Amino acid sequence: MLDLILAVAHHILVFGLFGVLFAELLLLRRGIDIAMVSRISSIDLWYGITAGLIIIVGFSRAVFAAKGWDYYSHNAFFWAKIGTFAVIGVLSAWPTMCFLRWRRQNHAPDDAEVGDVRRFLLAQVLLFPLLLAFAAAMARGYGEFT
Ligand code: HEM
Repeated sequence: MLDLILAVAHHILVFGLFGVLFAELLLLRRGIDIAMVSRISSIDLWYGITAGLIIIVGFSRAVFAAKGWDYYSHNAFFWAKIGTFAVIGVLSAWPTMCFLRWRRQNHAPDDAEVGDVRRFLLAQVLLFPLLLAFAAAMARGYGEFT
């Protein structure tokens, strides 16, 4: 039962994170005003909350749920997934810092600033499918090592 609850929570959170990321990419457009900066920055808070919960629920699944830590710690796709998630996390830092700075300084970003941050968001969106592929592979026992 714990396995099922964690699996459902994991999927909801993963969809939520992708939704937040995609919303940021759609809303961050050239010519946005301060009100939109503030809105995107509020949405970005949910990015942090969702990502934090994914880490907690994800590691709870890996340690306490069906297959156990021994299974995942000896799986290359598990580590590839964790590594990709970490890279996405690092890529999310720059947009977050910009949103906070723009909001604090009451600054509407110019085209160059918007383009710069959009590149970081796009890179995350493009890496996301890798997580799904690695997750499916690890769940089916591919990439086991001793
Ligand atoms: C945004 C990041 C993540 C995405 C998109 C993601 C995606 C997925 C998906 C789609 C599955 C189902 C795989 C399947 O049954 O075919 C899954 C399972 C799983 N994920 Fe994640 N995940 C993410 C982050 C994490 C993190 C940080 C952990 C931490 C350890 C984790 C641990 C697990 C575990 C243990 C399973 C169960 C696999 C199994 O059934 O054997 N995930 N993930």
